[in-house]
Amino acid sequence: MHIAVIGTGYVGLVSGAGLADFGMKVVCVDKDEEKIEKLKKGEVPFYEPGLEDLVKKNLSAGRLEFTTDLKEAVKNSLVIFVCVGTPPAPDGSADLSQIKDVALSLAEVIDDYKVIVTKSTVPVGTNRWIKQLIDENKKHDVSVDVISNPEFLREGSAVEDFMHPDRVIIGGESAYAIAIIKDIYRPLYLAETPFIITNLETAELIKYASNAFLATKITFINEIANFCEKIGADVTVVAKGMGLDPRIGAKFLNPGPGFGGSCFPKDVKALVHQGRQVDSPFKILEAVLEVNETQKLRAIQKLESLIGDLSGKTIGVLGLSFKPNTSDVRESPSLAVVPKLIEKGAKVKVYDPVAMEEFKKAVGDLEVEYAETPIECAKDTDGIIILTEWNEFRFLNLGELKKVMKNPVLVDMRNIYEPSLVKKLGFKYSGVGRA
Ligand SMILES: NC(=O)c1ccc[n+]([C@@H]2O[C@H](COP(=O)([O-])OP(=O)(O)OC[C@H]3O[C@@H](n4cnc5c(N)ncnc54)[C@H](O)[C@@H]3O)[C@@H](O)[C@H]2O)c1
Repeated sequence: MHIAVIGTGYVGLVSGAGLADFGMKVVCVDKDEEKIEKLKKGEVPFYEPGLEDLVKKNLSAGRLEFTTDLKEAVKNSLVIFVCVGTPPAPDGSADLSQIKDVALSLAEVIDDYKVIVTKSTVPVGTNRWIKQLIDENKKHDVSVDVISNPEFLREGSAVEDFMHPDRVIIGGESAYAIAIIKDIYRPLYLAETPFIITNLETAELIKYASNAFLATKITFINEIANFCEKIGADVTVVAKGMGLDPRIGAKFLNPGPGFGGSCFPKDVKALVHQGRQVDSPFKILEAVLEVNETQKLRAIQKLESLIGDLSGKTIGVLGLSFKPNTSDVRESPSLAVVPKLIEKGAKVKVYDPVAMEEFKKAVGDLEVEYAETPIECAKDTDGIIILTEWNEFRFLNLGELKKVMKNPVLVDMRNIYEPSLVKKLGFKYSGVGRA
């Protein structure tokens, strides 16, 4: 089976390398020449555990190739996975310009039957639109089938998630095309991964509904945490007590600085937009977005309640990526917190094990000091905020930290420290929902 994967971001690269590892011949295409040059040498341009090894292994086995030549890649492939970005447009809808570019490029070059598989997260109706665009613009009289195959991998554990997914969703109308995609995923089928075969619209919505539900769950526990702070309850115990109910489940019940990342915020916004378009508003999700924006700035309120006015103070921020094990800072709480601290007149030092380059790119010339270690970040500060629960922050040498800080103040937005222990060491401490 020859496969082309268009877009070598998190989803495309992991899918391409993963499918090659299943034994298929895969060519990954990207329009970013610099990225492709790196990938040809086996260098992965972002941090994702295990991915570089998988890419190198399949490159040297001759099953994986990289190119910028879409025509050549498509010519030799029966199946084309579309994995380009669908970022948020200013009105909250999904910006489908990358999808449209790909569909029009495919219409130019396709000269034989192809199955186009959309892995990008796209609004309901997009797969039909892709087929229409190709049919209306194709240069050769050939047929194509489209399949919706949304991806559920999580950054930070993307390789593992691709190899062992909870489910495979295949939406389509052509039994022949569905059979081809099932064949590609046969290794997962044999491993008893549940498959859901459905129509295009249902498959497209499963992805949005899943992400919107998870974002709602996080937001719910964040509001419970805020309530705990007012009434003297401990949210970590509340969450444990709730999570033991199998109807609720323990996952995604960790309060924190609000959800971020390249998926939840944009997918919730896009679903809200789709609801409005068909006069079926998602009131819960509109509230989720509003609460999440407020939650991102809770760290600042906590800091102010511990040290007062932030003007002239030096603050250390530990963790810039939206979650551990990734260099991705898209919609990360750090992008709300750091500029707000500066706006309030604070001097800001930051540290992250892998995301500092991405953060620099995102904030441009914002005046921030980049530290090389957590201790260097803490030096001479009036307070520290932990925004990402990287493992290396879980066992900081608190004695040393206290020694180098001007004021031992710790705002722990991930509840990775036990309040009584930290306070015993002489810190002023605030976690989330632990009054
Ligand atoms: N990142 C995740 O965790 C994740 C998880 C599940 C689903 N998704 C969805 O998958 C899609 C891709 O996400 P991502 O994070 O991998 O995106 P990304 O922005 O990291 O990568 C997209 C890639 O597509 C390339 N590209 C754009 N237009 C192209 C074209 N015309 N030809 C060739 N290459 C082109 C870009 O250069 C880029 O390398 C999005 O719809 C996203 O919502 C992402």
